[in-house]
Amino acid sequence: MARIPEEVINEIRQKANIEDVIGHYIEVIRKGNGYVAMCPFHDDHNPSLSISKDKQIFKCFVCGTAGDVFGFVQKYENVDYVTAVKKVADLIDYKYDFGSEYTNTFVETNLHKVLRESVIYCQHELNSQAGVKVKSYLTNRKLSNEVIEKYQFGYNPGGNVLYNFLSKKGYQDKDIIEANMARLTERGIADVFYDRLMIPIHDRDGHPIGFTARTLDPNNPSKYINSTDTPLFKKSEVLFNFHRAKDIARRDKFMVLAEGPMDVIAFDRAGISNAVCSMGTSCTRNQLLSLKRITSRLVMGFDGDKAGQNAIYKVGSLAQSLGFEVMVLNNSTDKDPDEIVNSGGGDMLKTMVTNAISWIEFIFTYFQKQYNLSNYTSKKEFSSKVMQEINKLNDSFDRENYINRLSSLTGFQTTVFDKNVVSPKPERREVETVEVITRNKDGVTIAERTILKQMLNSKQMCDTYKKELNFLRNRDSNTLAMYIVDYYNYHDQLNVAEFVGSLENERLKALVFEIVDDDLIEDKIDNRVFTDAINRIKVSVIDDQIAQKNQEMKNYTDSTVQARILQEIVNLRKQRKTLLKAK
Ligand code: UTP
Ligand code: MN
Repeated sequence: MARIPEEVINEIRQKANIEDVIGHYIEVIRKGNGYVAMCPFHDDHNPSLSISKDKQIFKCFVCGTAGDVFGFVQKYENVDYVTAVKKVADLIDYKYDFGSEYTNTFVETNLHKVLRESVIYCQHELNSQAGVKVKSYLTNRKLSNEVIEKYQFGYNPGGNVLYNFLSKKGYQDKDIIEANMARLTERGIADVFYDRLMIPIHDRDGHPIGFTARTLDPNNPSKYINSTDTPLFKKSEVLFNFHRAKDIARRDKFMVLAEGPMDVIAFDRAGISNAVCSMGTSCTRNQLLSLKRITSRLVMGFDGDKAGQNAIYKVGSLAQSLGFEVMVLNNSTDKDPDEIVNSGGGDMLKTMVTNAISWIEFIFTYFQKQYNLSNYTSKKEFSSKVMQEINKLNDSFDRENYINRLSSLTGFQTTVFDKNVVSPKPERREVETVEVITRNKDGVTIAERTILKQMLNSKQMCDTYKKELNFLRNRDSNTLAMYIVDYYNYHDQLNVAEFVGSLENERLKALVFEIVDDDLIEDKIDNRVFTDAINRIKVSVIDDQIAQKNQEMKNYTDSTVQARILQEIVNLRKQRKTLLKAK
């Protein structure tokens, strides 16, 4: 495989600002000299990811993920190194001919082809004579041709025409069945979807992977049927419209979560194009986590009816536990977004989004409808439910304020409420934490990090290290020093981001970040500081040797042996003294 020349990679790394590239994917917040962000690589609830603007590297202090700009893109997009380099180049508009082998990273499998051809075929049927009744159904629902085109609506009239078409095109039965476009029945192979409006579902890059299909018959009990899980389509992970909504949500810093595809489309018709929905099941943790990579603000745009409100409570609670700021569509009707747009117009829905209420406001209204506040027991239960949510509020002003509201609603005094503050207690998944990084570093650790920092800054210091010490006591520090020495065999200067990019071990990348980010460790190249640090390590080795000799001495009763060991100890003490005097 052809390689991208090193100079090109380095130039892209230099031209890209890591904070902008990361900011393209997730929200970054300015902090001190650098930036912080919610780490997308674990369930983060505080911004744990730190970005060094100076050194152009990043690190998460909770899960330990670290690296340079390419490392971030590689992890985030789950792509190989070369693809990550290319993506960064695209983002910064760096013009380079990577050659054809780099341009097409998507490999269209037979299943993808079956899906793509099915979409086209159903679109064709919708525009034919057979589709006339579907067109008029869509017109009744006030869906324009533009919407029909954009969402690639289609129709499969039945009689297995879709299967026959795919077969004639040369697709094998096994692929058509695996893609869930047809299935084996007693009477042979038959279409899965027929006489329904066909709405394609895409992956995050916009490749069709399945369908949700709506009946036109108001008496049909299965209003929608969806593709079953296939190698491409995982119902519990996929979100309808995600590929179109993600960039807009990133820009507008929130995502709308709707109940069904027609509601997602209604939001779009109202000018809110950052809406998605899950497919016929309530939103799962995985679906929420993939939204969280885009934005941590969620507007719940479910139906206004009772079922919709219950679903908001359920999904909203989960989202909150995952660290989302949850807002709720300000919908006092019992309609769904699609009905709202069709009866009140897009502006009405838009206003409901603009005036979205906070989670705690929703909680008050939600529970007020469920409890009878003129009954003592019911009032007590109501208070306990609402208090649970009030206690999760981070801001003490807010807590105080809502406790007062609860008190005036119930007539209970504020003192009776159980103010058991449990600041958002997210469901924590075990994260792999990295070893290292004791906050109270001992002298040796500080000395070793001083040595490493100076080595990172100067080749000359690296040479001194090789001559004077050439080992470090901590295993990771020692390995890192070896990599630095090796790096200077080929370079006169060390570029931290490039060096981090060359490391494969996650812990070492994290260690570099720690060292360059630690203001307590001298950054200036200073021979004196360096020598002190080297001596500190040597002293610590001698201390260990002395301790060992003392131990040894206890094992012998023979006085001549004891005398010899004692002499060795005395010599070590002398060495120790000389080293300390050198200060
Ligand atoms: P709704 O019954 O609220 O449907 O179900 P809707 O979204 O208003 O659909 P329209 O406007 O009548 O076309 C909410 C969602 O639940 C799923 C669908 O995703 C639907 O959008 N659902 C509903 C199913 O998967 N199967 C069903 O039979 C019904
Ligand atoms: Mn509807």
